[in-house]
Amino acid sequence: MTANVPSRNVATFSPLLECRDISVTFRQPRTARDLLGGRKPLKLHALRNVSLAVQAGEILGVVGESGCGKSTLGRTIAGLQTPDSGELRWEGRELGVSGDRKARARNIQMVFQDPYASLNPRMTLGQMLDEVLLVHDLCASVAERRERVDELLLMVGLAPQLKDRMPHAISGGQRQRVSIARALAVKPRLLIADEPVSALDASVQAQIINLLEDLRAKLGIAILFVAHDLNVVRHISDRVTVMYLGEVLESASADALFEAPHHPYTRGLLDAIPLPDPKRRKRTPGVTGDLPDPLRPPGGCSFSSRCPHAVDACKAARPVLEPSGKPGSIREARCIRPLSSAETTLVPFDMHSHS
Ligand SMILES: Nc1ncnc2c1ncn2[C@@H]1O[C@H](COP(=O)(O)OP(=O)(O)OP(=O)(O)O)[C@@H](O)[C@H]1O
Ligand code: SF4
Ligand SMILES: [Mg+2]
Repeated sequence: MTANVPSRNVATFSPLLECRDISVTFRQPRTARDLLGGRKPLKLHALRNVSLAVQAGEILGVVGESGCGKSTLGRTIAGLQTPDSGELRWEGRELGVSGDRKARARNIQMVFQDPYASLNPRMTLGQMLDEVLLVHDLCASVAERRERVDELLLMVGLAPQLKDRMPHAISGGQRQRVSIARALAVKPRLLIADEPVSALDASVQAQIINLLEDLRAKLGIAILFVAHDLNVVRHISDRVTVMYLGEVLESASADALFEAPHHPYTRGLLDAIPLPDPKRRKRTPGVTGDLPDPLRPPGGCSFSSRCPHAVDACKAARPVLEPSGKPGSIREARCIRPLSSAETTLVPFDMHSHS
């Protein structure tokens, strides 16, 4: 983490990007039963009233089980998915749903999980980078574009000589570096990295994560870092947002969230991480039970069917995402019975009392 980490205090928090109450639904294809019974197709709520903000130069980690809406969130912010309702704001101004895509792409770029699928197999690395510079009219001459292509390759740790290679002729890690270079070509201020290391070997994962951290430090770029590996998220993020069934359940600074989560779901996710020190014993078995059918989420709190702290009131009404923790901090949780720090801090395992 750099020394230039943005403030995490309500008074000084100034968002670059804000999502306010964003909802996205997908209509599920009609089944034969629907057609015969005259029933309307079900709506899948991929995002439900998602509110979050990213500051300039900040790395916000987004975690949650498969299908919780992480990619839909990234795509909605990037303008690739239209929300049903809610508002996106960029430096305080509304980002129109049908606004200028090119203008939005200048500020917000995406890097995807599978670099091979996201690169054109018929173009050299140089041609791909050059194309972006040309489309966005970013250089005054061919010579300037050539120079910028070399600079972009160097920026992501690749030798400019590689520009004549095709995507299949470089390694997976190098391909992800090219994807990052292509995203950086327009000098965006926010990078949405959707599981950028999930398809890579462990050693290469660390290199790409270090590269993203270096780029944040050098360019001051903000990153929305989507991942399911909590260790990775902890390492790279200033703040972390935890999602479940399309909702934000908790947001906090990475240190605070990993030290003492306020939401039972976050607690469960953390307890599922294997601990290197056997003396530090897990306090819960992690998140148990099956993920509910997203087409039929539980009423009230979406986590109530798996929550060890659930009471009747949890099923009666949907909890709101509200400030949680010390006054002035930007911590939030969606739970009517948030965990106290006494309950959530890991304690050393006492060998004698448990033998
Ligand atoms: N185009 C689509 N049409 C129908 N349903 C969709 C579509 N895209 C996503 N979904 C559904 O929306 C929900 C959220 O999907 P999303 O891909 O955003 O989750 P995710 O958190 O990125 O999952 P993963 O970790 O597997 O990548 C899922 O239930 C998914 O099946
Ligand atoms: S609202 Fe209730 S069910 Fe939901 S997480 Fe909190 S304690 Fe658990
Ligand atoms: Mg995804």
